[in-house]
Amino acid sequence: MGDEATKRAAGRAAAELVEDGTAIGLGTGSTVRFAMERLAERIRDGLSIVGVPTSHQTAARARALGIPLASLNDVPHLAVAIDGADQVDPALRLIKGRGAAQTREKAVAAAADRLVIVVGEAKLADPLSAPVPIEVLPFACAFAAARLAALGGSGSVREGVSKDGPVVTDNGGFVIDWSFGPIGDPEGLEQAIEAIPGVIAAGLFTGFAEKTVVIVGGDGGCRVVSPGSSRPRTGW
Ligand code: A5P
Repeated sequence: MGDEATKRAAGRAAAELVEDGTAIGLGTGSTVRFAMERLAERIRDGLSIVGVPTSHQTAARARALGIPLASLNDVPHLAVAIDGADQVDPALRLIKGRGAAQTREKAVAAAADRLVIVVGEAKLADPLSAPVPIEVLPFACAFAAARLAALGGSGSVREGVSKDGPVVTDNGGFVIDWSFGPIGDPEGLEQAIEAIPGVIAAGLFTGFAEKTVVIVGGDGGCRVVSPGSSRPRTGW
């Protein structure tokens, strides 16, 4: 199975977990897109839901697919949020933010009773080690970078691809991608980053494991990992 096929399998499986009459969070990225495509099919078959999108990209895709939308201000309590991740560790802690949407994704994850994470096998990591995307106020960018340097590692402000200068998020922030190397204490690091004045949100998600279900698309189909799954406490 190729990368696209594993994402498709995981995304479509997540859409099957959505119940009629619920409000759901719609994460951002290439795997969530497959969940939305399946949700659109189910809507055509009679499913009634409203989705809270976490980015302009997701909102546009959902509109094109005919998925009804609301804002988190309209619907502050969600049954489930479906989202992708850049890395997942065996304790179901996440690194997110490749698409610079982690701030809204974190709010939507917090608002949801269940967080369904859809990934391919390649995203499984132990320990977490990918660069952590950190949204910051443009005003405090250099200050925040100096404080991050005091925590260790190194990083830089994310640059646009078809734009000169920094990426500007859907919230008007900048993103600093910071490499800490293997992360020994993800909870402590998330707290330390988010305690820096000017930081809006870190792409470390350590507080949702108890309500998280990870659907892993792989060569043998999908497997579902939840806090109650029988698996080693450490290692995948
Ligand atoms: C968006 O900012 C990210 O958090 C994505 O959810 C994450 O990068 C996963 O994206 P893919 O499903 O495209 O890999």
